[in-house]
Amino acid sequence: MRYAYRLLHPRPALVVVAKNGKTNAMALAWHMPVEESKVAIAVDRENYTYELIAKSKEFTLNVLSIDKLDLIWKVGTLSGREIDKIDEFGIELENGTKIETPHIKGCLGYLECKVLDEIKLEEHSIFIAEIVHAWADKRYFKDVWLENAKIAMHVGKKFFTTPSEYFKPSE
Ligand SMILES: Cc1cc2nc3c(=O)[nH]c(=O)nc-3n(C[C@H](O)[C@H](O)[C@H](O)COP(=O)(O)O)c2cc1C
Repeated sequence: MRYAYRLLHPRPALVVVAKNGKTNAMALAWHMPVEESKVAIAVDRENYTYELIAKSKEFTLNVLSIDKLDLIWKVGTLSGREIDKIDEFGIELENGTKIETPHIKGCLGYLECKVLDEIKLEEHSIFIAEIVHAWADKRYFKDVWLENAKIAMHVGKKFFTTPSEYFKPSE
């Protein structure tokens, strides 16, 4: 079943910022928490971002709101090998707190991550990383994302959505 993985979507479409001399950004939907302080991301080794992370051993994961959808799509369909996406799309960056890699100004929240391990699959590498710093906008996050956080989630293909109504079990 070609699109079996889409049964696990929608997922927040994060933007990974990676730096090694040059700074680059790409969209990423294949991510998961693996321990409270660790995260795993799957990056195609053909992507320029892979090259940067493999060298610098760090990256940031940025959660963007749905009004940044066009930006998410552009950084997710064009390569930093061909254009300078940061310059071209006017992506405003802020300096990292614990790492050299910056994060995106105006994002809803971000994680600063240091690579611990890499697992090479056929085309993708899974980077397992330690979260060394995290920040989220208090207007939209209090222990969990609040219902007013319009997080951009990837459904698949060109479809995106945002979390809508929240539900709680009765007990
Ligand atoms: C919504 C969305 C999610 C994506 N998720 C991933 C992903 O999880 N892993 C990956 O390697 N590429 C993913 N991509 C594709 C990369 O973002 C795309 O190949 C990008 O152009 C790579 O840029 P780079 O060469 O500058 O690193 C995604 C693209 C989109 C639009």
